Amino acid sequence: MSSPIFFSFLLLGLAGAAVALDKVPEKDRFRFINEGEYVDAIAEYDATYRAVSVVGSPFQLTFYNTTPNAYKLAIRMGTPRSGSIRRWVWEANRSRPVRENATVSFGADGNLVLTDADGTVVWSTGTANKGVVGIQILHSGNMVLYDKKGGTAKLVSRKSESDGSPGIYSLVVQSEEPILYVDASPKPLVYFNNSVVRATFGSGSKVPGTFTCKSEDNVTYELSFGYTLVVTKYDSNLSFLRLTPDGDLIVYTYDDRVEFNAWEKTFSLFSPDQFFFSSSACYKPSKCLPLGICDGEQCVACPTAKGTTGWSPRCGTRCGPKYNPSYTKVTGVEHFLTQYSDGEGRLSLGECRRRCNVDCNCLGILYYEETSQCWLAPILRTLNKVNEPKHVAYIKPY
Ligand SMILES: *[C@@H]1O[C@H](CO)[C@@H](O)[C@H](O)[C@H]1NC(C)=O
Ligand SMILES: *[C@@H]1O[C@H](CO)[C@@H](O)[C@H](O)[C@H]1NC(C)=O
Ligand SMILES: *[C@@H]1O[C@H](CO)[C@@H](O)[C@H](O)[C@H]1NC(C)=O
Ligand SMILES: *[C@@H]1O[C@H](CO)[C@@H](O)[C@H](O)[C@H]1NC(C)=O
Ligand SMILES: *[C@@H]1O[C@H](CO)[C@@H](O)[C@H](O)[C@H]1NC(C)=O
Repeated sequence: MSSPIFFSFLLLGLAGAAVALDKVPEKDRFRFINEGEYVDAIAEYDATYRAVSVVGSPFQLTFYNTTPNAYKLAIRMGTPRSGSIRRWVWEANRSRPVRENATVSFGADGNLVLTDADGTVVWSTGTANKGVVGIQILHSGNMVLYDKKGGTAKLVSRKSESDGSPGIYSLVVQSEEPILYVDASPKPLVYFNNSVVRATFGSGSKVPGTFTCKSEDNVTYELSFGYTLVVTKYDSNLSFLRLTPDGDLIVYTYDDRVEFNAWEKTFSLFSPDQFFFSSSACYKPSKCLPLGICDGEQCVACPTAKGTTGWSPRCGTRCGPKYNPSYTKVTGVEHFLTQYSDGEGRLSLGECRRRCNVDCNCLGILYYEETSQCWLAPILRTLNKVNEPKHVAYIKPY
């Protein structure tokens, strides 16, 4: 790749024209309506999809959905006949799915526009009358995370496999170094900083933080992020970088010569057995959820009030059918919840506490002893001191 440009544009491969104000030839314009049959093929996230006529093997523009009537305009990767799964490598505005009968059109002005069924323009390439004369998806997997002007772009994880809306992890290239962030209040926190890691590797040279693919000979292809990430067995042009819903940074490489098992996970930042480079899995925030101790890349123990116990995925959860902690009682308090909502209604104190025990979002309960009224509190913050000792709060222990 010569000059770095936006990742989405690269995948779309919008061909810039030499002469300004040229128009898209009639035969290359299209308008596709999101309706009708789905393609009969397996795709990532158990998605169903409709194919738009913009293809550049192994890529194709599609409308896909994982929930009824909520589609994303996306590029899928995988050859049409392959028995391997098709993966989603790019999506137009993940926060804003479109409905049945949405359209994607590419008109004479060279702008690719996504319009919802009600006529709302949801997304466009913003290339109207910029001399674009065609649209093409290239056989290329190069991805760069900043534009020509040096503005930063963020790669944001999905919330989960089934929910494509923005998740809590993001990758940003700052001062030409990749940095991973996890959302936190009041501001996102760094959980991977390439320059710190590079310093411990003893490499002094500063290199641009771009994701590039280059062919060393006809056999191996190298992916680098300033330094070598991985050498793939096959064409690294057909590789893509993904920030997973659990915050790992991975590279998938596709082998378009084979029918089955065409995908290989060629890199995982937090996987300990990478030959080239990795960060300890114990620095991945999601490794031992919700709260555990990680040692030698494995979750090994749970911290508890009585010291550590053996690891279990229930570690640190303050909820569950067998969870019955001693709550801290505060007498003579009310809360905005008791003031403005009905809560769970009338319940015995035992039942009120039991509901909080099993509810992982419950941080404590508010209880009116004289009326047996019960509230489960997903946030507590401020307790309002009142002159009524029968109005109490029970706070779950940490
Ligand atoms: C994506 O959609 C959201 C919600 O409609 C909107 O606020 C946002 O500006 C859109 N982003 C882009 C890049 O179009
Ligand atoms: C899509 O548009 C067609 C033609 O206007 C209409 O018959 C159909 O009911 C629409 N589908 C939905 C789900 O709105
Ligand atoms: C990453 O680490 C470098 C070197 O320690 C430091 O100068 C830089 O500020 C860090 N970046 C972030 C975003 O924390
Ligand atoms: C790679 O393949 C090309 C064309 O098949 C050939 O001309 C070239 O010599 C090969 N290079 C190496 C390093 O094997
Ligand atoms: C990978 O992409 C580069 C640049 O677009 C191209 O020259 C090369 O032929 C591609 N490799 C393969 C195996 O297609």
